[in-house]
Amino acid sequence: MKVHGTLRVPGDKSISHRSLILSAIAKGESRVRGILQSADVHSTAGVLRALGAQIPELAAEMSVRGVGLRGLTQPASPLDCGNSGTTTRLMAGVVAALPIHATFVGDASLSRRPMRRVARPLEAMGAMVELPEHGGLPMTIHGGRLHGLTWTSETASAQVKSAILLAALLAGVRADVVEPVMTRDHTERMLAARGARVSVRDQRIVLDPTEQIDATDVEVPGDPSSAAFFAGLAAVADEGSIRLDNVCVNETRKGFFYQLRLAGADVREENRRIVGGEPVADLIVSPGPLVGSAVEGARVPSMVDELPLLACIATRARGETLITGAGELRVKESDRITAVVDNLLAIGADAEELPDGIRIRGSDRPLEGRVVTHGDHRLAMAFGVLAAARGNSIAIDDRDCVAVSYPNFWSDLERVVA
Ligand code: S3P
Repeated sequence: MKVHGTLRVPGDKSISHRSLILSAIAKGESRVRGILQSADVHSTAGVLRALGAQIPELAAEMSVRGVGLRGLTQPASPLDCGNSGTTTRLMAGVVAALPIHATFVGDASLSRRPMRRVARPLEAMGAMVELPEHGGLPMTIHGGRLHGLTWTSETASAQVKSAILLAALLAGVRADVVEPVMTRDHTERMLAARGARVSVRDQRIVLDPTEQIDATDVEVPGDPSSAAFFAGLAAVADEGSIRLDNVCVNETRKGFFYQLRLAGADVREENRRIVGGEPVADLIVSPGPLVGSAVEGARVPSMVDELPLLACIATRARGETLITGAGELRVKESDRITAVVDNLLAIGADAEELPDGIRIRGSDRPLEGRVVTHGDHRLAMAFGVLAAARGNSIAIDDRDCVAVSYPNFWSDLERVVA
């Protein structure tokens, strides 16, 4: 298989969610360029509208007039978060700080995902949170007068950290959060860009009370988690290269590209620059003879969404790839440890399920069979990459679920495979 061409992947999903939330509660009008127009971001827009924010239709260039830190209102019906964990957990922080109550609902996958991790710190700040026995959705939050919080997170989760920061921001109290491993820091960067007082030292983030946050212009860079699929595709190709323009290369998101280099692919960065407070670069990726490599706990957060893809790529490497310290994969859109291993075995690859990871032994034998995505967008795309590699014959049960984060994924894939 030969790859060629240049892609500009869609806007970063994490930054897109945050650009809507922060613009909605800022003072004045923010302009947002390059927002991701995918199902998850539509969920955040819908929830904000239900809370009285003025969010227009998502568009490549849009303006959001903020209602200020006290301007959101009681919703008339449950907040539908669709498939989006980021919408649920970040908006849980927002609702907890307001004198309102709201019930969060979502699809079957989201309803199974753990919410105690966000309920506990919000309760410690003074909110009341009702959860079903299994700890997922529906979750009802009664917000109110919150007090400041010092919190040490057991789980490395940017969503939990962001929920606490948003709750403190809206409540006008101090938050002091320590995370076990540094996770994506977009909330901190975007709050600072809007004039909030945030200090970050190692894994400790402190937000001091502020009266308002400013409207700003946001330029959303390309999503490294989407770019990763094409970097992976180029890595397993026989020849050629793919250029990925305008990708966010924030250190907290770059783990997959380091890992790909470690495994022997040629990954180069060009035109490094700062766009909207985030480091951005163009990436050029070409194949290399791939070898096995290891990923351990400390590096997991910087590539957490890319691990299913790494496992797929690893089937084409010489030797063993070992992913450990990644138990969080079990509580993503699907149990990504069991689902990835079951699918790899179903197509004839050599993979083994570990409690907190996956062991893969690569080979060059063709892979054939049918993949069950469980509606998980990242599984569909990871196996889509493997399906495009030479000699493989892989069918994917649900191709449409890519709409969650990358609606044009299949046509972009077709464009770069020669
Ligand atoms: C995200 C954080 C990560 C990631 C998710 C997006 C975010 O989740 O997996 O896709 O935007 O904050 P966790 O915070 O649960 O690790």
